[in-house]
Amino acid sequence: MTFKALLIEEKSDSTFEKKVRTVSSNILKINDNLIKVHYSSLNYKDALVARGHKGISREYPTIPGVDAIGEIVESKNGSFSRGEIVIVTGHDLGMNTPGGFSEYISVPDNWIIPLPKELSEYETMVYGTAGVTAGICIHEILFNNIKPESGKILVTGATGGVGSMAIAILAKLGYDVIASTGKKESHEFLNKIGAKQIISREEVLADSKRPLNKARWIAAIDNVGGQTLSSIISSTGQHGLVCSIGLVGSDKFSSTVYPFILRGIRLIGIDSAERGLEIKKDIWKHLATDWKPDNLSEMAKTVKLDEIIPEIEKILKGKQMGKIVVDCQ
Ligand SMILES: NC(=O)c1ccc[n+]([C@@H]2O[C@H](COP(=O)([O-])OP(=O)(O)OC[C@H]3O[C@@H](n4cnc5c(N)ncnc54)[C@H](OP(=O)(O)O)[C@@H]3O)[C@@H](O)[C@H]2O)c1
Repeated sequence: MTFKALLIEEKSDSTFEKKVRTVSSNILKINDNLIKVHYSSLNYKDALVARGHKGISREYPTIPGVDAIGEIVESKNGSFSRGEIVIVTGHDLGMNTPGGFSEYISVPDNWIIPLPKELSEYETMVYGTAGVTAGICIHEILFNNIKPESGKILVTGATGGVGSMAIAILAKLGYDVIASTGKKESHEFLNKIGAKQIISREEVLADSKRPLNKARWIAAIDNVGGQTLSSIISSTGQHGLVCSIGLVGSDKFSSTVYPFILRGIRLIGIDSAERGLEIKKDIWKHLATDWKPDNLSEMAKTVKLDEIIPEIEKILKGKQMGKIVVDCQ
């Protein structure tokens, strides 16, 4: 069998070439289930794989795409029925297992979540890994008893995939969200998805000489890392919570122990890819029902597989706004 996919190949001069090609099914790992992909979605991690990031994908040639929804073509263990519509997000998909920017994927049973009846196929990929990741942060906020009346929630990298999903879900749940963005042109978009206040990336930065700064929010969802994360920690209110997700700014940050021992701040690391299937199923149940933003479908732009490369270049430059759904049919 042959099919179409975005193939990333390492050249003899150690550069990486990305091209939509016809590939042989030999590229797929032998796994429990063969799935015909209907939609995928673009994440920052996919762009890093497409650029040749060997810390994420050791083996090239490969196919990026950490997300997919599609129909079961073959289920070797009989765990799923032929034609059943299923979701796969994270695990090793799009890393060392060829991913969703393809007409077919092959994955083990324990990566698969059946489509919740309240969601359309398209909506699942508007969420994608970004929605699941935002959902895990919101699960932590609720679990730690931070309620809408507890205070404001900061979201950095606000126009990105995780950022925009987090804002929309928090707003749906009645939280007062401060969105931090580097894009002046994004204010209408951010207000529409539910941000109450919009601040610049610079406004998040606090006096770095002081271990504690004036409390400005009770919780934060941080996609940026670096000095931004350091400032967030020092400006979070008593018994507040900081979710560290991303590193688009930097993978390093510094802090003192004072926010932790004087304000009782909790710094929570989020790893959505390897989060257990039971938690993921629970998150999808909420994403399908009580957490679902009213305008979910409007939060994404759709491109065909052939049109994905310029979108990858754009996300690497931090220029995307909202989600990109990839139509692989
Ligand atoms: N831990 C996990 O489980 C997990 C899961 C998913 C993603 N991630 C990570 O989370 C981060 C966000 O992922 P994503 O898919 O949402 O990416 P994305 O769509 O590219 O969003 C990132 C956003 O961050 C802002 N940004 C970009 N470059 C920046 C810079 N140099 N300094 C400050 N802000 C910058 C931009 O928003 P504004 O212009 O609005 O500021 C951009 O849209 C990435 O680091 C990704 O690897 C982690």
